[in-house]
Amino acid sequence: MECYFAPMEGITGYVYRNAHHKFYGNVAMYFTPFLAPNRSKKLTSRETNDILPEHNQGIRLVPQFLTNQAEDFLWAAKKAGELGYKEVNLNLGCPSGTVVSKYRGSGFLAIPEELDRFLERVSTELEKTGMRFSVKTRIGKNSPEEFGRLLGIFNQYPLERLIIHPRLQTDFYRNRPNLELFGEAVKVFGNRACYNGDIFSKKDFISFHERFPDAEAVMMGRGLLRNPALAEEIAEEEGEPGRESLSGAELQRLKSFHREVLEGYREAIPGDRNVLFKMKELWTYLGERFAGQERLLKKIKKARRMEEYEEAVEGIFEEAGLWI
Ligand SMILES: Cc1cc2nc3c(=O)[nH]c(=O)nc-3n(C[C@H](O)[C@H](O)[C@H](O)COP(=O)(O)O)c2cc1C
Repeated sequence: MECYFAPMEGITGYVYRNAHHKFYGNVAMYFTPFLAPNRSKKLTSRETNDILPEHNQGIRLVPQFLTNQAEDFLWAAKKAGELGYKEVNLNLGCPSGTVVSKYRGSGFLAIPEELDRFLERVSTELEKTGMRFSVKTRIGKNSPEEFGRLLGIFNQYPLERLIIHPRLQTDFYRNRPNLELFGEAVKVFGNRACYNGDIFSKKDFISFHERFPDAEAVMMGRGLLRNPALAEEIAEEEGEPGRESLSGAELQRLKSFHREVLEGYREAIPGDRNVLFKMKELWTYLGERFAGQERLLKKIKKARRMEEYEEAVEGIFEEAGLWI
């Protein structure tokens, strides 16, 4: 089964993505955090940088767009086509209030007729260009009962794949993914249905795989941020499921990976403050594997200067090394 890296706004941009690709394997496809094309017909420089081919060498990448305007989606898809991309993805999952109130992301699910018209226009136009498109969706805005109708709509169009994070917009990240409804999607979409949600360990993956042995791909976000080697561990025949502690070699690799991300951000982002902001966000995930090191994790969180940050990180890796 293939593993995809989920799009994570603010985190999995090209700096993180390149570092991950350099140090860790078995991710068949990465998706960009959402880009939000609008009437201005311009992407921001951050968005442009994220999809430039020279920033994504050797990486299989799908640009993701967040919009409810077919016109803007098509413009962005054309732009992506010019850069050599063959697939673009529509974000119907983002649960954030400011996005949803504009009927974008999972807010778009609340107006299925408009969504249907959008998909019709987009698929007709894209067909002429040969560009493929896929959708990443939740199961509804307010109720799981919305999903049947949504599936019917999606099924009218030649989606390359339908990635389902089976929660509602109103769940945000609470409650459990609704595997039953994912099963309904599999009945309709077969192996074009791709699962996403709460796969944090090899053990989680195995139980998903037992229930859906024919699924061809899973997408993982937070699990890979917490353990960047998760997709590799999943591919290993051997290995203990749910292994959480780091071996010496793994710790060394994580350290090199961390260095690469840090250096990448320092090159790409002006000002240590902004770099620190990014790194701290990363540690909210990485830190979960360093239980018992709360004092140093707090030091990372509180670091105001780069030296303080680096000292705390050095301390974490050193202490973790002592425990092996
Ligand atoms: C901080 C953060 C940023 C996210 N940004 C995006 C995004 O830009 N596009 C998207 O489709 N999903 C985004 N997501 C959702 C993830 O791609 C994924 O669907 C979600 O985290 C559930 O998968 P997981 O349990 O494997 O993490 C984001 C999630 C988080 C926590």
